[in-house]
Amino acid sequence: MSENQSHHFDTQVAPLRWVGTSLQDGYIQMLDQRLLPQQEVYYDYRTADEIAASIKDMVIRGAPAIGIAAAYGVFFGVRDLIKVHDHTSLQEKELPALFEALAQTRPTAVNLFWALDKMKPLVFGRDLTQDSEAVLEEILTMAHQIMEEDRENNLTMGRHGAALMPDNARILTHCNTGGLATGGYGTALGVIRAVHAEGRLAHVWVDETRPYLQGARLTAWECMKDELPSTLITDNMAAYFMQQGKVDAVIVGADRISADGSAANKIGTYGLAVLCKHHNIPFYVAAPLSTIDLEIAEGRDIPIEQRSAREVTHVGDRALAPEGMQVAHPAFDVTPGELITAIVTEKGVVRAPYNDSVAALFED
Ligand code: MRU
Repeated sequence: MSENQSHHFDTQVAPLRWVGTSLQDGYIQMLDQRLLPQQEVYYDYRTADEIAASIKDMVIRGAPAIGIAAAYGVFFGVRDLIKVHDHTSLQEKELPALFEALAQTRPTAVNLFWALDKMKPLVFGRDLTQDSEAVLEEILTMAHQIMEEDRENNLTMGRHGAALMPDNARILTHCNTGGLATGGYGTALGVIRAVHAEGRLAHVWVDETRPYLQGARLTAWECMKDELPSTLITDNMAAYFMQQGKVDAVIVGADRISADGSAANKIGTYGLAVLCKHHNIPFYVAAPLSTIDLEIAEGRDIPIEQRSAREVTHVGDRALAPEGMQVAHPAFDVTPGELITAIVTEKGVVRAPYNDSVAALFED
């Protein structure tokens, strides 16, 4: 991977882009989200190992963006593997190991596994060593499609979600669900962008999102770039502003939604939903169908990533807590469907009872 500070995406914020026209030399560039907002640094990625490490280390994060990166990881992996292995060995050893390495990066966002599942039929049970250029072309096209469709879905979700918001809406959001977390535009932040485009956005309250600060570092950065009227608050201020009557709606994204309409999202989301219930404020979740996992019946069965203590005890290199203190760090929590006013998807808006309405999204 090599650093490249000269490339700045000139259109909308997006976490990655394909560079080059040749199948053999093409690569992707990713904005290193760990360095935002102080530095905008783009790195070049050419191998599956680099992609897996970038997901694990949070260079790229956000459920749909993780899936997109993994899809390109499959392309890079196959491109390298078919140069040196025969058909049988590929099918039995190298390809399963490639998918496993990408799947092992982060456990909660189901978009990762969804994207890998989309890539599997293109590689398993086929002789990739025959007509390998055509096969690679197909795999790369699928990776591009996953990214482009995600952006399209977000634009559609934006329209559906904006219709739920009042005029002069003051909307609170948590974590980063914008262009950085997706193929572009964003899920929950996409809805906020759509309300703004309609001239009906009064204000965005941006939760800082302790401990990893996706709100303060990333959502604030996107809001400023787009000149959205917005204010950064610490997570524990949300209740205060709700009590003051200054929040009309809360909208968040999701990392995995179970069949009963429960939504796993960044730690702190569940608390916001409880606050909304008390203050009679609508609580919305915006997520594409690729975030819905019908194989998980109930929210309590969604795997929750436990992240390192250091993200809680430190900000950058500065320690906040005494050394040796015991720390808990669940990176996500689960909001039960009963606290969710509606789920916004690219196929429309669904409400409780979620077992029926969520299943209906997958019917033609
Ligand atoms: O740990 P992260 O930064 O990957 O967590 C991201 C979130 O929780 C987002 O809210 C979620 O992925 C939805 S992004 C469109």
